[in-house]
Amino acid sequence: MQSPIDSGVVLITGASSGIGRALAREVARRARALVLVARRTERLEALRAELSAARPELIVLVFGCDVTDRAALDAMLLSVAAELGPVDVLVNNAGFGDLSLFDLSAWSRTEQMIALNVTSLAYLTHRLVGPMVSRGRGAIANVSSGFGLTFGPGMASYVGTKHFVTSFTEALRIDLAGTGVRVTQVCPGPVQTEFAEMAGNFTGLEPPALLSISPERCARALVRAVDRGRALVVPGVVAWFVVYLGALCPRWLLRLVYRPIARLLRKKQLAVRGAPAPP
Ligand SMILES: NC(=O)c1ccc[n+]([C@@H]2O[C@H](COP(=O)([O-])OP(=O)(O)OC[C@H]3O[C@@H](n4cnc5c(N)ncnc54)[C@H](OP(=O)(O)O)[C@@H]3O)[C@@H](O)[C@H]2O)c1
Repeated sequence: MQSPIDSGVVLITGASSGIGRALAREVARRARALVLVARRTERLEALRAELSAARPELIVLVFGCDVTDRAALDAMLLSVAAELGPVDVLVNNAGFGDLSLFDLSAWSRTEQMIALNVTSLAYLTHRLVGPMVSRGRGAIANVSSGFGLTFGPGMASYVGTKHFVTSFTEALRIDLAGTGVRVTQVCPGPVQTEFAEMAGNFTGLEPPALLSISPERCARALVRAVDRGRALVVPGVVAWFVVYLGALCPRWLLRLVYRPIARLLRKKQLAVRGAPAPP
């Protein structure tokens, strides 16, 4: 069966950077049209110029849109429907993390993270999946995280949002069985993007090089998963091993290992950032 990416309309959120930008470059060779969504329009315009130069027949629409802004999102979807017709592939990639002990985190950031990683992902899916089911064709591809399968210290809200993404995607896949719509997700370990910087990495530590993969590799894994109709992929051999080790490890053991690390993180965070201002 032909992949919905081929000659399809592919909408990617968070296409201005990292995994989303790499995904755009990856599918640009095969899609009929790309819809690139993020807030930093100048980056999206630069990407559009690059992709159009490489393949002039490709239609590239750019939307400077905060996907947590419901009105902006609805306006964007209306324009896409008018200009391109139905979306064949939705890639819910936009997301950010917050490296912080939960009690030391800023509520505004947590709220924004849930709005982006959870609410906008579910809303966009809800808006676009119905027409896909009616046409018996399409794909929802979600970018979750290894933390959607396990947990760790210093990012409780992020872990919670990615557990939503992973479980939601699995359950949606079951709901859509037999409809012709593919539902897939990628659960990466560390990927070399702006993610850690955006998450406010106060530790000064980087993930081991062996564990990290490039955004291009992550993008290829997601595209392959859509092509093959796979349910869930963890790209990178070492990351695959570490993520599944975390997922399969008894929880009591993880708690034992993570407790002292959380204490160290608390000391470090208080030393570097101090206590947060009250909300
Ligand atoms: N990098 C990793 O280690 C890693 C590991 C596991 C999972 N992930 C997941 O991978 C996904 C992509 O992250 P990345 O690593 O590529 O990080 P990134 O380089 O920071 O890219 C994040 C993208 O999300 C967009 N975005 C953020 N807030 C947005 C908003 N309100 N509305 C629209 N777009 C928004 C950003 O664009 P603008 O700022 O221009 O809006 C950017 O294009 C995320 O869901 C993340 O949780 C990353």
